[in-house]
Amino acid sequence: MSTYQNIRVETAEGIALVTIDRPDKLNALDRKTLEELSRAVRRVRDDGDVRAAIITGSGEKAFVAGADISEIAGLSDSLDAIEFSRSGQAVFSEIEASRKPIVAAVNGFALGGGCELALACHLRIASRNARFGQPEVKLGIIPAYGGTLRLPRIVGKGRALEIILSGEMISADEAYRIGLVNRVVEPEALEDECRTLLRTILANGPVAVALAIDATSRGLEMEIEHGMNLEANLFGLLATTDDMREGTAAFLEKRKAEFGGK
Ligand code: COA
Repeated sequence: MSTYQNIRVETAEGIALVTIDRPDKLNALDRKTLEELSRAVRRVRDDGDVRAAIITGSGEKAFVAGADISEIAGLSDSLDAIEFSRSGQAVFSEIEASRKPIVAAVNGFALGGGCELALACHLRIASRNARFGQPEVKLGIIPAYGGTLRLPRIVGKGRALEIILSGEMISADEAYRIGLVNRVVEPEALEDECRTLLRTILANGPVAVALAIDATSRGLEMEIEHGMNLEANLFGLLATTDDMREGTAAFLEKRKAEFGGK
C-alpha cells in the first residue's frame, strides 16, 4: 500500500480526491511532494476501481503556490536545474496523458508550478477566491514545468505572454474570461461542482471518454493531417466496442445506455 506524507488520497464512488497537503507552505511542491503526486497519478492510472480524479490543495488559502522556492534557491548547476525541470514536467505530463479524466479543483493561489499543475489537468474549476499566475520572472527564472507550452495552448500566445512576462496574478473571473478555467464557483461549492461534472462524464461510454482525451490532447500536438488520422483510427477502434453497440442501441430503443467499458 502506498503511503504519503505530503498528499492525501481518498477514493469514493470511483473518484480519487488527491489533496496536496502542505498548507503551512501553501502546498508548495517540493521534490518529495512531486514524487508522491507522481505515485498517486500512477495509482489513479492503474487502479481499476478509480475512474477519475480531482486534484486540489489543502486549506482555504492555496491550491499550490508553486514549486518550492527554497529548493529552487539551492540550484546552481545547470544539469541539476535541467533535471529539476524535467522531473516536474514528467509528473505533469503523466497527469495530462491520463486516460481517466482529471479535474483541478483550484481553491486558492495557483501560482508558478501550481498554475502549471492546473494546466496539466484536463479540466479546471476555480473557487471565486482563486488567483492564477506565473510569477517565475520575479524570481529570475521562467515557468519550467510545462507552463510556457501549455498556457499558450489554452489561452493563446498573447494572453500567455502577458501572464508569463508580467508575473502578475489574475482573478478567477479573469481566468474564466480568458478560458483558463472551465467554471468559477463559490468556495463551498467547489468539490461538489467537480464531482457533478465528473459524474456527467463518467455516465458516458468509458472507452469513448478515454479515447476522446487521447484524440484531443495528442491531436493538438500533431500536424492536422496526422491528428485527423489519429481521430479516424480511434473512431474505427470504438466501432468495434460493446459500448458503441450499447450506446447506439439504447438511443434507438429510447432507453438509458448501460455501458460495460469494453
Ligand atoms: N515555495 C516555498 N514556500 C512557499 C511558497 C513557495 N512557492 N509559497 C509560499 N511559501 C511559504 C512562505 O515562505 C511562508 O512560509 P513561512 O511561514 O515558513 O515563512 C508560507 O508559505 C506562507 O506564505 P506567505 O508568503 O507568508 O503568505 P502570504 O499570504 O503573505 O502570501 C503568496 C501568499 C502566495 C502571495 C506568497 O506566498 C508568494 O508570493 N509565494 C510564492 C509564489 C511564487 O513565486 N511561486 C512560483 C514559484 S516558482
